[in-house]
Amino acid sequence: MKKITKAVFPVAGMGSRFLPATKATAKEMLPIVDKPLIQYAVEEAIEAGITDMVFITGRHKRAIEDHFDKAYELEAELAANGKDELLRIVQSVVPRNVNCIYIRQSAPLGLGHAVLCAKPVVQDEPFAVLLADDLIDGQPSVLKQMVDVFAQYQSSILGVQEVPRANTRQYGIVSSTNLDTNIERVHGIVEKPKPDVAPSTLAVVGRYILTPRIFDHLENVRPGAGGEIQLTDGIAALLEEERLLAYRFNGMRYDCGSKLGYLKAQVAYGLKHKELSADFADYLKSL
Ligand code: UTP
Repeated sequence: MKKITKAVFPVAGMGSRFLPATKATAKEMLPIVDKPLIQYAVEEAIEAGITDMVFITGRHKRAIEDHFDKAYELEAELAANGKDELLRIVQSVVPRNVNCIYIRQSAPLGLGHAVLCAKPVVQDEPFAVLLADDLIDGQPSVLKQMVDVFAQYQSSILGVQEVPRANTRQYGIVSSTNLDTNIERVHGIVEKPKPDVAPSTLAVVGRYILTPRIFDHLENVRPGAGGEIQLTDGIAALLEEERLLAYRFNGMRYDCGSKLGYLKAQVAYGLKHKELSADFADYLKSL
């Protein structure tokens, strides 16, 4: 029985839809209320029992490294000013038993290439991939749900959700047959199909559990849609030789890679924030 202990966070994308906010920082550092997107994703992985966080960074390496590092000056200042609650928040960004590992993707050659960059660290183990710009509010967390499915089936798993047919062009889309409650067996996967040719409306979102064979396939993938090395193409090749599952997760997903999805997440998380919810709800009503 294999256990998932490593998670890969590709954070080297251009984030062009959020320019100029992403000119000097990674999209994954954008906050939802008071926490950056990447921290929500790391917390989700921690809840799923993952101990090694592998960040694939790009130009904006520093902000993410600094966020998960000790902040001596800030901590000393908060302690000296008696700001104990803030000090606790800063110090609890990552628990002590969690390792953060950083790998540089030299150029943004695509999500498939970013995942391939994790090979030297992941080696011969199944692992998780989380795209932090897909913020998913789930109880338990979606990755925890998927790790539990993996414990039972020991196969690669894609997090999926139904999307409107008009939107298939934004996703990898699977064709599948039902295997169990919320679990599908995948027969095919295509990247960003047009609505009229999409094999279904079941879309892959930013949660994956993959077996290490994916690396061999990614090494052979040629640039596909948009000139990038697509993770979807690697997964399609993996599907030729291994069972691949799709899991219809329980949870609310916010596409924080788009401005509208990001604003929706701000509203939803603002409305359930312990200090803000009542005042923020009053404010929204007053609009
Ligand atoms: P996106 O498709 O959202 O691209 O990447 P992007 O470049 O970040 O954003 P836009 O479209 O320009 O606004 C999906 C995920 O894959 C990562 C991104 O950081 C994001 O988490 N990624 C993408 C990489 O790490 N490297 C790449 O070469 C491409």
